Amino acid sequence: METIVSNDLNTAISLLNQGEVVAIPTETVYGLAANALDTNAILRIFEAKQRPHFNPLIVHCKSWESAQNYVLKVPSIAHELAKYFCPGALSFLLNKNNIIPDLISAGSPLVAIRIPQHPIAQALLQSLDYPLAAPSANEFGYISPTSAEHVFDSLKGKIPYILDGGSTQVGIESTIIGFSENGSILLYRKGGVSIESIEKVSGTKVINADIGDKLKPQSSGQLKSHYAPKTSLILGDIEHLYSLNKNKRIGLLSLSNSYSHLNFDYRFLLSQNHDLNEAAKNLFAFLRQLDQLDIDIILAEYMPQQGLGIAINDRLYRAQSIFKIID
Ligand code: TXA
Ligand code: MG
Repeated sequence: METIVSNDLNTAISLLNQGEVVAIPTETVYGLAANALDTNAILRIFEAKQRPHFNPLIVHCKSWESAQNYVLKVPSIAHELAKYFCPGALSFLLNKNNIIPDLISAGSPLVAIRIPQHPIAQALLQSLDYPLAAPSANEFGYISPTSAEHVFDSLKGKIPYILDGGSTQVGIESTIIGFSENGSILLYRKGGVSIESIEKVSGTKVINADIGDKLKPQSSGQLKSHYAPKTSLILGDIEHLYSLNKNKRIGLLSLSNSYSHLNFDYRFLLSQNHDLNEAAKNLFAFLRQLDQLDIDIILAEYMPQQGLGIAINDRLYRAQSIFKIID
């Protein structure tokens, strides 16, 4: 199959209307989209991504209001958060109704709902009379794509069309939250909306879903090895890791410190200005670039544990090679 990369919206609309899959830009990462109400179209997503069927998909709607067509009772705290964060990089786990196929939620009574903000994603959703199911547009387990070229590298020959919307603004996947019976907010995946901002808007403490929810739904954000480059990556204190790996060809991934006294073969600084939002935007592109280089190992440092630094640390932690052996 030939894979076309273009910014023509009408081609995307017509392919989606035919039940095809199309890669689309969102402000977090590119998604591999299909009609969320059409089981055959959804199956094509799983096939192209080589994604296990037990892994549920996020449903993208044009507005919070339109999303109400697909869910049952919504907690008032969810409505409050939506007023502030929708459209945006926040996904809500809500009780689904029968219109949403079970394949979307992998049999769970909950469906993840997101209202993307990207103007092209919005224009697309406004032109369709169904919502779009979309996982990140990469091979399962690899680094999420933040540009049309990244999608092409991962999925060329497997999908007909990539809608090019340039590089994504946020650069890291959406934060996923759910709600417990007693009104708590449960965190399923750290992402593009910071925990601090959710707590500020809601006035409620966010609880880790592993602790707050005994059901433990499988979210790939909860898998140990994920977002992983093929080159080994180790996260930790750079000076110490360097001393253990001196004789190797090393790529450095740091926030703003170039560690100029150490002899790295390549240096990737996520944000010279020490800006964690800029770092998140660069993270996946830099990991992909590092993965193309002739090096033995990537040494990465922890970001400050605040704002999007928390989500970046989570991705780096899972990108570590050690978990490929344990899992
Ligand atoms: O930013 C994003 O969220 C991107 C863009 C394209 O929207 N999408 C994305 O999708 O990252 P994906 O499929 O790569 O990751 C979504 C995560 C998965 O780990 C999945 O298991 C979890 O959301 N998820 C989806 N529906 C769920 C559900 N009903 N219950 C628990 N986890 C769910
Ligand atoms: Mg993904």
